[in-house]
Amino acid sequence: MSHQGLHAHLRTRERTHPELVLVANVLAGLRETPKRIAPVYFYDAVGSALFDRICELPEYYLTRTETQILRDDGADMADQIGENVLLVEFGSGSSIKTRLLLDRLRTVAAYVPVDISRSHLLAAAQRIASAYPHVEVLPVCADFTKPFTVPTPRRAPTRIVVFFPGSTIGNFDPQDAVNLLRLMRDIAGPAGGLLLGADLVKDAAIMVRAYDDAAGVTAAFNRNVLQRFNNELDADFDVTSFRHRAVWNAAASRIEMHLLSTRRQRVTLAGESIELDEGECIVTEHCHKYTLAAIREQARHAGWAARQHWLDANQYFSLTYLEAVDR
Ligand code: AVI
Repeated sequence: MSHQGLHAHLRTRERTHPELVLVANVLAGLRETPKRIAPVYFYDAVGSALFDRICELPEYYLTRTETQILRDDGADMADQIGENVLLVEFGSGSSIKTRLLLDRLRTVAAYVPVDISRSHLLAAAQRIASAYPHVEVLPVCADFTKPFTVPTPRRAPTRIVVFFPGSTIGNFDPQDAVNLLRLMRDIAGPAGGLLLGADLVKDAAIMVRAYDDAAGVTAAFNRNVLQRFNNELDADFDVTSFRHRAVWNAAASRIEMHLLSTRRQRVTLAGESIELDEGECIVTEHCHKYTLAAIREQARHAGWAARQHWLDANQYFSLTYLEAVDR
């Protein structure tokens, strides 16, 4: 083993098991063609704060539009969801949209926010518990793409309803999205429901602007993932040598976020070297955009049948209520 290799080996030996898995996953993505970085890595403290700013941008219509639909049609959604349900929110974050639903639901057996970030989850759960003292709040710290156990509430619910707003489903490639919807179906059970937020296909320029804003917040969010690897994984990315790109891929019905290397370069990450050509792109995120038919079709493969869609006046965004059906 070379001196440099030994050095890297010693450094990696000091890492904990989850860190080693993280390094292995990141390196595997950077060795694919095209190179890929999974969007989960965006969300360190800086990335999460930048994402909160994205949600406020004039170009990023998604959050605003979905919130308005929940305000306008929340009562209708509550009618579909019914009484005394166990509401399980996947990727609950700060549980802001949940409040719009909890305000409309007449009775709730319990609310189960599920999120990977423990501090964020517990703080948000505490806030919900204080604001809705009649609702039992049972937070679960978990990676929602893997099976987890739903806690048993004090009051027996009529059914389990999964809430998955934000069009986060769009960040999963089609087969992974079906797998996630199946996992939700397993968790909700044969009498369960799902309230799903999904962004709709529209004029390409509107979608591209939402991911390439004038103030450069999305560009900073995209590049921050490289800074994070520099901070946490002994990487030496020259962050300024990567350009943010958002492109509409019509064939795959998705916006793709890329980091384009503006020069030929060699980067080191955890002692391993990665070569990039001038103009080569790292794919950092896919944001799939749906038609209502595509939502129904994808959900059908996972054992769900759509009962109702709610859209804004521009038909930019959708919320769909689905019920479990036999697979
Ligand atoms: C979290 N997710 C739904 C966002 C989206 O629109 O796909 C992530 C995002 N990436 C850039 N801007 C927002």
